[in-house]
Amino acid sequence: FHVDMDASETDKGTYPFYMLKEIDEQPNVMRKLAQVYLSETGEPVINEKLLNSMKQADRIYIVGAGTSYHAGLVGARLFENLTQTPTEVHISSEFAYEQPILSKKPFFIFLSQSGETADSREVLVNVNAANYESLTITNVQNSTLSREATYTLLLHAGPEIAVASTKAYTAQIALEAILAKALGESDNQIVAQRFNIRQQLGLVATGIQAIIDAKSKLEDMAKKYFLNTPNAFYIGRSLDWSVSLEAALKLKEISYVQAEGFASGELKHGTIALIEDGTPVIGIITQAKTAGLTRSNLQETMARGAKIITITTESLAKKDDDIILPDVDELLTPLLSVVPTQLLAYYTSLNKGLDVDKPRNLAKSVTVE
Ligand code: G6P
Repeated sequence: FHVDMDASETDKGTYPFYMLKEIDEQPNVMRKLAQVYLSETGEPVINEKLLNSMKQADRIYIVGAGTSYHAGLVGARLFENLTQTPTEVHISSEFAYEQPILSKKPFFIFLSQSGETADSREVLVNVNAANYESLTITNVQNSTLSREATYTLLLHAGPEIAVASTKAYTAQIALEAILAKALGESDNQIVAQRFNIRQQLGLVATGIQAIIDAKSKLEDMAKKYFLNTPNAFYIGRSLDWSVSLEAALKLKEISYVQAEGFASGELKHGTIALIEDGTPVIGIITQAKTAGLTRSNLQETMARGAKIITITTESLAKKDDDIILPDVDELLTPLLSVVPTQLLAYYTSLNKGLDVDKPRNLAKSVTVE
């Protein structure tokens, strides 16, 4: 019995907190996933039986909790774009007791860093009882959810110790992308054939590194905008909305700023009433078709006193943008846009003198429903 774990993987080294170490590890996690799941020519290497099961499905159901649920929201867009299979995402604690009417041939994907979340396991127990096939994507080999699903894929992110999940989120999205590429290609989907996953993961790895290398700017921004605010908003549309939810969760979890991730078009239907003088509103703008709309939604909040921060890509950038991400395929921008939000949350928590790795009231893995 060999435990494949290097001592340095669980050692903080010179880092003040595990969270910063885990944020820093993300470029290598991207490279590791490419190494494990892609061939030398850059083609996905995924268990044939798993692909065949998924190919027979008429609908994919992604189930997860917390950050894993957020990674599922991005995954659904990847599966729909690259495989043309309708894909739904569900919060596990909801799905367990209010199950939607299922399609004729459902396939379930469980996302769980720990593989032990009780809410998600409750769904898997029901799925198994109904004899449906499933896949667990997890960071922990032999975890409960990985043992009990039909198939399992490992995230290879290395142990994640900080309660707030960072590298598991980006690893989940990257592995969903590899899987969607494999599935779409096996079904001759042109979008999947054209999606150069190896090249993209390479761009993502260097892109994340560039953001990390410029982290002192994010520390300054965290001090300026978040240190003394009771609340903040992240806004965006489509994939940028999904990342907004994760960005807001990070800020809430470790810095106790009341943050909300919002669909930017929905703000004007009520929530904009909360904007006051100085409320930070961070716009995530990485999708060409909605960039202009999110920018005008930001203007609307600015007119009501909000302090605006923009996170955008090189190709969509305007003169006054704050954080500019390197360009990657639009489907993969969440892998980059989430990183500054992880660092903003980290530095807010750090500069408040909080215990970044062990926030109050939270556990890394929740084994009760
Ligand atoms: C806990 C953690 C979260 C995590 C969630 C789901 O609440 O504090 O960071 O996202 O569980 O965990 P899982 O291990 O299933 O991904």
